[in-house]
Amino acid sequence: MIRVILCFLSLLTGLSVEAAGLGNRFFLVPTSHLDFFNFEDRPIVENSRSGLSLVQLSPMQVEEFSEQAHKQRNVCGGFTDAQVQMEKLGLSAEETLDWALSRPLNVHRFVQSTTSYPTQVERLMGLTNESRLGSFLKELTSFPDRSATSELGTKASQWLGARSLQMAQSHGRNEVTVMTIPTKVGYKQDSVLVKIPGQDSKLPGILIGGHMDTFSDNKPGADDDGTGVATVMEIYNAVLDSGMLFKRNIYFAFYSAEERGLYGSQAMADDFQSKHIDLKAVLQYDMTGFKSPKDAQELYFVTDHVDTGLTNFLKILTQTYLKIPAQMIGETRCGYACSDHASWTNAGYSSVFPFEASFENYNKTLHTSKDTMELITPAHVMKFVKLGAAFAVETGEPTER
Ligand code: BES
Ligand code: ZN
Repeated sequence: MIRVILCFLSLLTGLSVEAAGLGNRFFLVPTSHLDFFNFEDRPIVENSRSGLSLVQLSPMQVEEFSEQAHKQRNVCGGFTDAQVQMEKLGLSAEETLDWALSRPLNVHRFVQSTTSYPTQVERLMGLTNESRLGSFLKELTSFPDRSATSELGTKASQWLGARSLQMAQSHGRNEVTVMTIPTKVGYKQDSVLVKIPGQDSKLPGILIGGHMDTFSDNKPGADDDGTGVATVMEIYNAVLDSGMLFKRNIYFAFYSAEERGLYGSQAMADDFQSKHIDLKAVLQYDMTGFKSPKDAQELYFVTDHVDTGLTNFLKILTQTYLKIPAQMIGETRCGYACSDHASWTNAGYSSVFPFEASFENYNKTLHTSKDTMELITPAHVMKFVKLGAAFAVETGEPTER
């Protein structure tokens, strides 16, 4: 008999952030953003070239930096952890900038451009449910924060794991596993990884994910990234309700510590890479709930740190199954590794990042206590849920005809 396993692997639970080794770390920051620091606490720049700087930041400075970026220019910090790569590849400060500046901004590995399973896509899209999604999001945001540094953030991670497992069990799906994956750098909040084994588990799988954490205290993160988590969960719900079986392994991921520097997704991508687990495609959801009245197009695809072939394929799915015409599908650019899709791209996987708005018009309440349910349009989130259902079927390949 196949067993359902919930493995809480973290050995770090119980250690404080400091005790777990979260001191100063190296970060890559757009050089112009260094102005956000007060002159006195400006970090020492280790190396700087082509608009990018390598600096060391303490956890306090990371927090302060992000606050100031929002306050002063209404933008996100735009920093990424460099230490993980430096340690992994044994890079000096000079070599780290070489690596950051020379890594391809995009890959083009994904080649499929035709759709094959219209009946199954329609059936799965028909099983997605806006009111179920709404109640889940309400429940998720009842955690006043889901920060990777707080007790509540750890509780939110455990809650997501338990909920995912209970959903599989209530559908009698004993082959589904739910695992937790530590961040490696010592945040107490673990990522959660759900796996629905495919019929041919040797084939490259597919993965759909979003980050569970919020930036810091008292920030409900309804849109950033409650909507992404709710989108992933609703697709998982529909797949379970459908009873559909697939050729490929289908993974659902809830990442920890994205807001601290993409740690949860980096650790997960590393884990897949080191175990030689191949993935055909990775779908990222980070903010799917805010529809800006200023935007001309219905939804957007982020164009940097993604696979361009996979992005094209998702545009085809959007036109075919969501009946959104090509001219209503936008493209937008973050300009830096702004979310977990970049961790997968860095590790050599194909990722795609559909987004709620253009980069100019996204929900500016993110990272504040105003990021609440009020600004969420559930019908907007549902476009991303339906797109994810189409993605799961067309890339995961159902065994039923
Ligand atoms: N949800 C944001 C990223 C985002 C913001 C994407 C606006 C697209 C438009 C994410 O949670 C975030 O804040 N990311 C950080 C970078 C991360 C590596 C710490 C950022 O944007 O500064
Ligand atoms: Zn986010």
